[in-house]
Amino acid sequence: MSSPDAGRDRSSYPPVVVLLGGPSAEHDVSVVSGSAIADSLIEAGLDVRQVLLDLDGGWWWLPEGHRRGNRPPAAFDDPSSLGAEGPLLVGAAIDRLAAARPEPVVFIGLHGPFGEDGTVQALLEAAGIAYTGSGVAASAIGMDKALQKRLWRGLGLPVVDWLEVRAATWARDRVAVLDQLEAFAGLDDPRLMVKPARLGSSVGMTLAHDASEREPALDLAFRYDNLAVVERYLAGARDLEVSIIGTEPPLGVYGPGEVIAGHEFYDYEAKYTPGLSETSTHAELPEAMRQLVHKLSRDAYRALGGEGFARVDFLLAGDRHVISEINTIPGFTPISLFPTLPAEAGLDFTAVCLRVLDLAIARHAARTDHRLRPEDLPR
Ligand SMILES: Nc1ncnc2c1ncn2[C@@H]1O[C@H](COP(=O)(O)OP(=O)(O)O)[C@@H](O)[C@H]1O
Ligand SMILES: [Mg+2]
Repeated sequence: MSSPDAGRDRSSYPPVVVLLGGPSAEHDVSVVSGSAIADSLIEAGLDVRQVLLDLDGGWWWLPEGHRRGNRPPAAFDDPSSLGAEGPLLVGAAIDRLAAARPEPVVFIGLHGPFGEDGTVQALLEAAGIAYTGSGVAASAIGMDKALQKRLWRGLGLPVVDWLEVRAATWARDRVAVLDQLEAFAGLDDPRLMVKPARLGSSVGMTLAHDASEREPALDLAFRYDNLAVVERYLAGARDLEVSIIGTEPPLGVYGPGEVIAGHEFYDYEAKYTPGLSETSTHAELPEAMRQLVHKLSRDAYRALGGEGFARVDFLLAGDRHVISEINTIPGFTPISLFPTLPAEAGLDFTAVCLRVLDLAIARHAARTDHRLRPEDLPR
């Protein structure tokens, strides 16, 4: 793994465009992540421009030198009040990025649908623009709690048992779905976690303690997605998180850190209310379990075809351990675990951002080398 001062000379970096906000329920979290990334790259001496995506999908160029400071995310609801230029529709925005010279590299600081699920990755890919993190397929699977579990279980990796419920089935026959949930629930502990399949930050999730709480839980999940994932609740589980940086082996694997949720589970409020939950960058674990968690993180990431970076989360209950989920664009604030776990290996927040940029630039260069010429076609 590279040391903090390895990598390229700062002045040799291309201009960086940080995307933040986005048309997803995780908009506000992304404003904080994207601003932190931009701040650290500006302080590292890079040429940084921030582009805010509003909830309607409009793209706004924030003024050069913009810093969030202590503005709350809601201050970005009216981007023109911040001096931003826009909104550009997606096609015009991509054209503008593609035409910029020198060619920029896009640091995607978005979370959730559109930004983390392969959509924006596909737009940038189609326009030949360099971008950070996973490509289209890994992003799509990484966002989808049902697809990733099918993949991991198929490979024999440990995941919790789950049920998938489609909104159309729920709309057609609630009683049949509720019966199915009761048959699935444990007899001694009937608690179920009900989640929208493709979201993050615990938005739309409910811990449904008994049969009476299933119906509102599914209604809530279906406000955000047309597929819900239902899992048995792992009582008393520890929440462990591992950071991965790299595309080819050897991957940098850092942590696990641990979250001690201030609520019954790590819900939105527990995640984002300062002081409510505790995090540790070093989970106390027997060495053999630590090694196993590292191996499973690499396996889970490589199964998806992850590129650049990701956070892999685990639930540990007694001697049971399962891979809970993967985040291909995890929380990236100065107090988030993803960018702070690598500190144990000497990589600070800025070094993590630079390493992620290096990987994006290297991938882009490799793609350019593979451009097809007529003589490459099987004619
Ligand atoms: N099956 C489960 N058993 C126990 N706790 C769970 C389970 N699923 C989720 N949780 C808790 O809820 C939190 C959020 O769930 P997660 O699946 O990670 O959703 P998100 O993608 O929104 O972060 C987890 O960090 C964990 O604390
Ligand atoms: Mg999570």
